[in-house]
Amino acid sequence: MKALSLRELEAAARALLEPGIHDLFAGGSDDEVSLRANEDAFARVGLVPRVLRGRGAPRLDTELLGCRASMPIVLAPTAFHRLAHPEGERATARAAAAAGAIYTVSMASTTAIEDIAQAGGPLWFQLYLQPDRGFTEALVRRVEAAGCKALVVTVDSPVFGRRERDLRNGFMDLPAGMCCENMRPLGPNCERGPARSIAFSPTLSWADVDWLRELTSLPIALKGVLHPEDAKRALDSGVDALFVSNHGGRQLDTVPAPLELLPPIADAVGDRLPLVLDGGVRRGTDALKAFALGARAVAIGRPVLWGLAVGGEAGVAHVLTMLRSELERALALCGCGSADDASPELLHFSRWEPRWRTS
Ligand SMILES: Cc1cc2nc3c(=O)[nH]c(=O)nc-3n(C[C@H](O)[C@H](O)[C@H](O)COP(=O)(O)O)c2cc1C
Repeated sequence: MKALSLRELEAAARALLEPGIHDLFAGGSDDEVSLRANEDAFARVGLVPRVLRGRGAPRLDTELLGCRASMPIVLAPTAFHRLAHPEGERATARAAAAAGAIYTVSMASTTAIEDIAQAGGPLWFQLYLQPDRGFTEALVRRVEAAGCKALVVTVDSPVFGRRERDLRNGFMDLPAGMCCENMRPLGPNCERGPARSIAFSPTLSWADVDWLRELTSLPIALKGVLHPEDAKRALDSGVDALFVSNHGGRQLDTVPAPLELLPPIADAVGDRLPLVLDGGVRRGTDALKAFALGARAVAIGRPVLWGLAVGGEAGVAHVLTMLRSELERALALCGCGSADDASPELLHFSRWEPRWRTS
């Protein structure tokens, strides 16, 4: 039986995956406070629909960082798709291409970017700036040659988050025959998990973003900007978008849900930078709430891995189909003709103390 929702799909994936791999995908850092907060934040915001607005069937197509997309739902970068399914990132890329959705390929993909690009859909490439600028430059040239349309630079990882599920399970390295293919020129370390094959560096600074801006003409998004002051600083660095993301609760724990941090960031950047929100998006209504608070698009991480585990390409296609139709329905039920129609007037924030009529 096909899953009717992303939550059903997650349960099906959990039953199929080897427990250590499930934990690797599902887990967060430390006490997983942020991990839980991400989904909870959406449940705590209500929707108050507008009626009789006659906006017609909602349109989902959009343009982001110069890329046409059939919907404002992007595949977030997640590592190691071949741990979920033997066809790994190739299957993900085919499903995304068929759906006309943008797929952000992780630098820690277990398939080389050139092979992923064969699917022909719009691709962005997620980059961890490496302290070895020569390596970063070579990788950027590879990514440009492969036809990727933008770089998504993850800036929330000066060091690797502590993921206790992985420590408990002893998950340190990829199984034999699998590696971070985009890291290959670095030699034997590409056979390792991301904590050991990719360098995470606390010395990185805005100067490195400036350097990258000079290096490439590809649009650049910064992923993991959560402080409004950093969002303002990003305006000066010539970047083209921000991902408001806490890395799915896998880096600094107790960071609030991105949904809650979105309004101050949207205030800080106004219309000058498009915002992509990720973290806990599991329903079309979640996406709509993010749009109402200023996101131009949302990105999904784990649901893609659950789809891949359950059905390979067809499983990822099912994830995208479900979310697309949920978003269409949510927009229509709120009287919106597109994501641009979503505004804070649709949102209801519960207060702790109900206001009673006293007279
Ligand atoms: C298994 C897994 C691997 C991830 N790998 C990366 C990565 O390589 N680079 C990156 O910037 N973010 C990575 N992320 C974070 C996602 O891009 C995204 O921020 C997060 O998953 C969104 O939350 P969601 O899973 O609740 O949708 C990963 C997340 C998961 C769950």
